[in-house]
Amino acid sequence: MRPFPLILALFALLQPSFSALTRKNKYIVPAATWYDTDGNILSAHAGGVVKTNGTWYWFGQNERLEDKTLFSGINVYSSTDLLNWKNEGRALSPIAGTDIGPEKVVERPKAVFNELTQTWVLWFHADNSTYGQLRQGVATSPNITGPYTFKETFRPLGNPSQDLGLFQDVDGQAYALYSNGDADPDHDNLITRLNANFTNVEEVVYTFYDFDLEAPNILYTGKRYYILMSHKTGYRPNNVVVFSAEKLSGPWLGTRTWNSQSTFTLTAGEGLEKTYIYCGDHWATGNTLYDSRYMWLPATINDDIGSFRIDWVDLYSIDVKTGRIEVPKGQDYEAENGVLTGPAYVTLCPTCSGNKVVTSIQGNSTLTIKNIVGTGKPQWVSIYYHNPDGLWGDNRNGVSVLSRTATYSVNGGAPISMIQRSGSSGIILSQPLNITFNAGGGNSLTFAGFKGGIAL
Ligand SMILES: *[C@@H]1O[C@H](CO)[C@@H](O)[C@H](O)[C@H]1NC(C)=O
Ligand SMILES: *[C@@H]1O[C@H](CO)[C@@H](O)[C@H](O)[C@H]1NC(C)=O
Ligand SMILES: *[C@@H]1O[C@H](CO)[C@@H](O)[C@H](O)[C@H]1NC(C)=O
Ligand SMILES: *[C@@H]1O[C@H](CO)[C@@H](O)[C@H](O)[C@H]1NC(C)=O
Ligand SMILES: *[C@@H]1O[C@H](CO)[C@@H](O)[C@H](O)[C@H]1NC(C)=O
Ligand SMILES: *[C@@H]1O[C@H](CO)[C@@H](O)[C@H](O)[C@H]1NC(C)=O
Repeated sequence: MRPFPLILALFALLQPSFSALTRKNKYIVPAATWYDTDGNILSAHAGGVVKTNGTWYWFGQNERLEDKTLFSGINVYSSTDLLNWKNEGRALSPIAGTDIGPEKVVERPKAVFNELTQTWVLWFHADNSTYGQLRQGVATSPNITGPYTFKETFRPLGNPSQDLGLFQDVDGQAYALYSNGDADPDHDNLITRLNANFTNVEEVVYTFYDFDLEAPNILYTGKRYYILMSHKTGYRPNNVVVFSAEKLSGPWLGTRTWNSQSTFTLTAGEGLEKTYIYCGDHWATGNTLYDSRYMWLPATINDDIGSFRIDWVDLYSIDVKTGRIEVPKGQDYEAENGVLTGPAYVTLCPTCSGNKVVTSIQGNSTLTIKNIVGTGKPQWVSIYYHNPDGLWGDNRNGVSVLSRTATYSVNGGAPISMIQRSGSSGIILSQPLNITFNAGGGNSLTFAGFKGGIAL
């Protein structure tokens, strides 16, 4: 059996996440599976969020396990608090025999309202399964939730277009931001102004020559514009690149940041105080897209120097009126204080809490954390781990595996699998788990290797 060198730096953050009575979400929990107000898995990947009339609408790709076609629809959800999302149905459904047929690719939907025509316009990247068509697509609806009527797809100003972002400026003018593909001599990213009806593009206002980035989006803080785009590494996360400028037409300066793929940047807060939320996709793989998660994290912006930073938080609540976020404090439990069996051992780790890590947890070795205090109700527990496999994962017999799998069991119960996606050396990531411990102390969590692991 292949040894399973899962490295685990662990502490648990225990906090009731939702009221049992109302079943309402109290927190945004990055990287957890999110559920809509009907209790179904929220499926809105590579999405875009637009606020109108006090309500946010989140458009995204439907990637449910049961929907097998390449394009199965664009879903739309609504929320007034960014925590509880109501499924408003399919904004756009496949139409056989067209550029949005079920065998086609329809990605990165973004909606914008056009005052002139009093119409909602939905933009997306339209392609075939081998990404050879490289078009933009447009659909319209008088109602924000649709259903949207498919209009057409086109190559903007005659040029190819891949990943797409959309931005509406404070003066109402909308812009598309997109990459023009992987083929030479393309590799550019362009900002183009839309026409008066927002149904096509009209003029390029800035070109990032040869930057070759994807997953683009634009945020305006009132002082500066920020653009986030990721490198092209498939479903493997990389460090998103941030640019800032005083005008959309540039000049744009670049710095690198964070790792998960950007799709949108939200602004919350009705007064002067704003919270900016970086919305990223925590992709699984091409075969397991349904298990992709959302990485929504607060961004710290300094307009004076044009800096944009995203720090990790396990979970947070947000007041959409004041724009304030609150990060609850949990109880820490260090892995090195746990009970080890088999070849598992404690070693040094400069970026881990307490500068120590438990490693070599394999099929026949375990780590047990004891005396965990529980509430008797479901709680969020953040498992901190170090998986330094890097961008291309772990090469197992010629197959690159993007995450490792361990198991956890609660109070000696049946083992449940738990995924650790690959990061970079020294980077500690965390995996949220929803666990119900017994009320009071004396609970235990046991971690072990995963036999016959799935290639993810
Ligand atoms: C705006 O929101 C209010 C309250 O939710 C609703 O009654 C009204 O119909 C909405 N107006 C439009 C134009 O959607
Ligand atoms: C996608 O479109 C390109 C360009 O027209 C074409 O070469 C390629 O064969 C198409 N792929 C499929 C699966 O139809
Ligand atoms: C838009 O909403 C109105 C009012 O809810 C409804 O009467 C109308 O049928 C909707 N239009 C479409 C295209 O769904
Ligand atoms: C906008 O729509 C109107 C009405 O459909 C049409 O007459 C006009 O040509 C359109 N303008 C542009 C710039 O597409
Ligand atoms: C645990 O498993 C490893 C790898 O399969 C093996 O080398 C080792 O001898 C085992 N140790 C014990 C204590 O069983
Ligand atoms: C957490 O797990 C409980 C069952 O133990 C379930 O009822 C609840 O819906 C889950 N909550 C979330 C937010 O996943």
